[in-house]
Amino acid sequence: MRDDPAPRDIDGNPVRVGLPMAMLAELTHRCPLACPYCSNPVELTRASAELKAAEWAEVFRQAAGLGVLQVHLSGGEPASRRDLAEIAASARDAGLYVNLITSGIGLTEARLRELDGVVDHIQLSLQGIDAEMADWISGYGGSFARKMQVAQWSRAIGFPMTLNAVVHRQNLDRLPEMIDLAEELGCRRIEVATVQFHGWADLNRRPLMPTQAQATRAREVVDEARRRLQGRMVIDYVPADHLAAFPKSCMGGWGSTGLNVAPDGTVLPCHAAQTIKGLAFENVREVPLARIWHDGAAFNAFRGTGWMPEPCASCERREIDFGGCRCQAMALAGDARATDPVCSRSGLHARLRAAAEAEAASDSTVLVYRRMTREKRG
Ligand code: SF4
Ligand code: FES
Repeated sequence: MRDDPAPRDIDGNPVRVGLPMAMLAELTHRCPLACPYCSNPVELTRASAELKAAEWAEVFRQAAGLGVLQVHLSGGEPASRRDLAEIAASARDAGLYVNLITSGIGLTEARLRELDGVVDHIQLSLQGIDAEMADWISGYGGSFARKMQVAQWSRAIGFPMTLNAVVHRQNLDRLPEMIDLAEELGCRRIEVATVQFHGWADLNRRPLMPTQAQATRAREVVDEARRRLQGRMVIDYVPADHLAAFPKSCMGGWGSTGLNVAPDGTVLPCHAAQTIKGLAFENVREVPLARIWHDGAAFNAFRGTGWMPEPCASCERREIDFGGCRCQAMALAGDARATDPVCSRSGLHARLRAAAEAEAASDSTVLVYRRMTREKRG
């Protein structure tokens, strides 16, 4: 029985709880790459604390029971888990659509064949259009060649594929070639996502911040490619936040359609939620997923629109973007309840934009790589 049958937001306003459609399952934080815009938390989970395959199977059963339709197996690099095929199979057995989000590193042809029949779709990350760029950005020599090999094996096996290109000032001028590459690899979709500058990426604002001219050109490239490839390949484009007038609806609205499970079983409303001070998160090892989703204080904190301050509270877009991203508000405004500072109606917007323009004008190419320190033994 629930303690409180009427879930309430951070201000005590009643909230309406819907059903989640998608779950991000972060199988591990381990990753051979060292991307300077890594979206994993600054404090990484150790391998010894990761959920075991049988625990993931139980999470997937609970997720399906809660209404989740698709699971994204992610990381870190999910192929760092030797039991990836077993985990994916249990997600499929639970009745979920299984999407694997991978850099490709660690996948062999034999491992891909094991995944055939249990993984429905593969999303392959792309750091650059050639070995020089991709290996430099990922901090991993030989990554590009291995990734292209994985793409070819995946295509031969018949996996539907999306290329997931993360773009920034160092590679945005080569967007047309990235789209061509996705087409050559037989992808059904390419996602072109500009780096989000919070978490680790915040350390690399000067080398990575795109210029206005690049963003304008990227929009033209995407529009032209969408016309040319209509009916053959879908192009999703996430433009640079600081150059947009309004923020994106992060997670489709907090606690509305998706949830994340971290490697140790901590259940989060989004991948960066642990950066928000004062929120307490529950673990699926201790509390059933449905209870966390419906009654968890962190999930209810920013549900709906009742918690919003002005200018969001009276804004006509409040049910379109839900005030933007809470984690970005935390990072940039120091307050998760604030209007996302990338919004042109935020009092912090002008300052943010000026800082981004100064960073974009930098000629720095010095990257601070993300490395996971090895777990100490004994
Ligand atoms: Fe969205 Fe708030 Fe900006 Fe309105 S004021 S556009 S609701 S972030
Ligand atoms: Fe957490 Fe946007 S990343 S709400």
